[in-house]
Amino acid sequence: MIGPQNAEFSDQVFTEGLLNLPMGQEQWAAVDNYITDLFLEADPALEAALGASSAAGLPAISVSPTQGKLLHLLAQVQGASKILEIGTLGGYSTIWLARALPAGGHLISLELDPKHAEVARANVARAGLADKVEIRLGRAVDSLKQLVAEGHGGPFDLIFIDADKPGYADYLQWSLKLARRGTLIIADNVVRKGEVANPASSDANVQGIRRFNERLAAEKRVSTTVLQTVGSKGYDGIALILVIADQ
Ligand code: SAH
Ligand code: DHB
Ligand code: MG
Repeated sequence: MIGPQNAEFSDQVFTEGLLNLPMGQEQWAAVDNYITDLFLEADPALEAALGASSAAGLPAISVSPTQGKLLHLLAQVQGASKILEIGTLGGYSTIWLARALPAGGHLISLELDPKHAEVARANVARAGLADKVEIRLGRAVDSLKQLVAEGHGGPFDLIFIDADKPGYADYLQWSLKLARRGTLIIADNVVRKGEVANPASSDANVQGIRRFNERLAAEKRVSTTVLQTVGSKGYDGIALILVIADQ
């Protein structure tokens, strides 16, 4: 059988004719795999992180490999030596980001769930990044307040927002207090299968993202775009937010 129903994705799937079939999850995943095979090397530490996360019963909602590589490239473009992550899970995105840090660089990741933090610490250690990564346990808003109170040794160069979606609007406000002109803020999951464009959505996550987007649109200190994405994680989007004003 040829077509997107074919779970095997043999080369035959990509013969002429497929292009006339509707696009969908199977094709997005096949192309994501194709890109991963071409441009991402086999990576035992990242694979072990996913394996340990799955074995511990964590949900399979880490960024995809191609998205992780995007985070890594953006951290490099940014020359980031101080990174803040909000929402650690098993540390998969943490590892991608922390690997972009120069010697002496530092990443702080905020996580509510003690089990997630424990799995993430082990994954980060296995990746050889324990000296660069600090995982702080607690509600992200409390940890963010604490970081502001501490003065935390200067602003962050890159902030990745990826925790509970109803919290995003607050995380934006706190992130701005921890930013400088030139900080790049990246927010995951801002399209939600397109539901974000539906004002009548009853989904609390969608409503949380809509509030976040409205705050962003009204925020004069940033310049923003949103990229819609498809791939192994389905249809979603990533916000790219550049801080353009002194804080
Ligand atoms: N960034 C990770 C995925 C994060 S999933 C990756 O791509 O690999 C979202 C995480 O946010 C979960 O681990 C969840 O426990 C955590 N979380 C949910 N609510 C939170 C809160 N209020 N404060 C901090 N972390 C929270
Ligand atoms: C969910 C959370 C995420 O951060 C993500 O990337 C995908 C899904 C979720 O809570 O369902
Ligand atoms: Mg996410």
